[in-house]
Amino acid sequence: MGFPKGFLWGGAVAANQCEGAYLEDGKGLSVPDMLLGGDVNTPRTFLPVTDPNAFYPSHEAVDFYHHYKEDIALFAEMGWNVFRLSINWGRIYPNGDDPEPNEAGLQFYDNVFDECKKYNIEPLVTICHYEMPWAIVTKYSGFHDRRTIDLYLKYCETIFRRYKDKVKYWLTFNEINVPVLSEGGIGNLYGIGLLEEEDIQATDPIKLSDLKFNRQRTFEALHNEFVASAKAVMLGHEINPDFKIGCMIAHITCYPLTPDPKDVLACIKDDNLKHNLCGDVQVRGQYPVWTEAYLKEKGVTFNFVTEEDKEILKKGTVDFYTFSYYQTSCITTHAGAETTNANMSVGAKNPYLKASDWGWQIDPDGLKYTLATLADRYPGVPLMIVENGFGAFDKVEEDGSIHDDYRIAYFKPHVIAMREAIEEGVPLIGYTTWGPIDLVSASTGEYAKRYGFIYVNRHDDGTGDFSRSRKDSFYWYKKVCESNGEIVD
Ligand code: BG6
Repeated sequence: MGFPKGFLWGGAVAANQCEGAYLEDGKGLSVPDMLLGGDVNTPRTFLPVTDPNAFYPSHEAVDFYHHYKEDIALFAEMGWNVFRLSINWGRIYPNGDDPEPNEAGLQFYDNVFDECKKYNIEPLVTICHYEMPWAIVTKYSGFHDRRTIDLYLKYCETIFRRYKDKVKYWLTFNEINVPVLSEGGIGNLYGIGLLEEEDIQATDPIKLSDLKFNRQRTFEALHNEFVASAKAVMLGHEINPDFKIGCMIAHITCYPLTPDPKDVLACIKDDNLKHNLCGDVQVRGQYPVWTEAYLKEKGVTFNFVTEEDKEILKKGTVDFYTFSYYQTSCITTHAGAETTNANMSVGAKNPYLKASDWGWQIDPDGLKYTLATLADRYPGVPLMIVENGFGAFDKVEEDGSIHDDYRIAYFKPHVIAMREAIEEGVPLIGYTTWGPIDLVSASTGEYAKRYGFIYVNRHDDGTGDFSRSRKDSFYWYKKVCESNGEIVD
């Protein structure tokens, strides 16, 4: 009983949130490099040109680019056997459509993977974690243009061939459902690189929530991304049949706020649209039966799937299903319900749950519920939680220690929930916590929302020397990993 032998324990980062070195060694601008910082009360903004006087958190991030050896040694010290990271597309193809890849970028990831190997840490690589080259947004309207499918595949082919003996686990896109979750704004920019012309011409910073949104074009672009993902799965298996290639869905698991059947129906619909649409296309290889009707209600004409695309989706199904899980949310048809923030979205507040300082509701039982639901929906498909964590303000004591008992209190019941789910038969194969080393928040762009077991001395005013130190949670997670989840106290 308990976690099976060989269970994967580790942490997850994204290149754009940790690497920095945003133009070093030939890298081009990527989408996050255009985003300014915000905080818990100030929305993040975007400007289509880089302003030399503004502070862009991704430009230096936590400088993993120059600290990767030290950081991977710390990960190894925690007893990890997996490290989820992303390759920054713009390091390999700076403009997206360059004829040749950038050798210095490729060499950087060779170095990172070699370092992982030194410690027997298996890399799990997200091919695109919000890091579309900026030029693809401006020149091709992101995935709305089908030529972007080819640009993405060219990038995939380059990295599949280069790292075919170093990387076995791949994820085609991070949280492919973000455009559906956020209904425009940040999800469109991060997920599909789709901006409307007016915003591309902007001269003043625009709040991400104020970006123009065209739902029809959004679903068309998302469909192209599904096709790109399916083709990448086929290509990867051709290059190395041992590759395991997965999808990645953001789970904002939802409950009906009340037992009113109308709330229950609304909740099912929300869950279907936000999670199952993307999951079914990638795992089952086809759009769910209700797609056309649901999209019609939203004003979207579902007329963009060709017969050829249908075949591609069918052939390019993923080998495993991964997801991020931070919180749950409630759905209601009743007016006046109190709301709270969730990842990339807003939902009704659950009176039974506490929340982080950013309003994300803490719900380890919801993780068990999510795992059980997914195991039933996709029988036999291995599952992996590739993000879970607690963003909090940390206080450094005079002696340099950081007593983040609140973070341990968040993780512990989540680990127990995973163990219980496994004991009930859920095929969970691994767990990578989000931001095991402090990094830049994707939604707010701040450093102060810290997720790490490892503290990074870097702050929102641009100060700090990037030095690393272990928080109390570091020693806690080390016990969990080393004991294969036996010890959680
Ligand atoms: C996920 C993303 O949505 O949530 C990460 O994959 C992100 O990139 C994480 O950082 C946590 O969200 P935030 O906004 O707190 O950084």
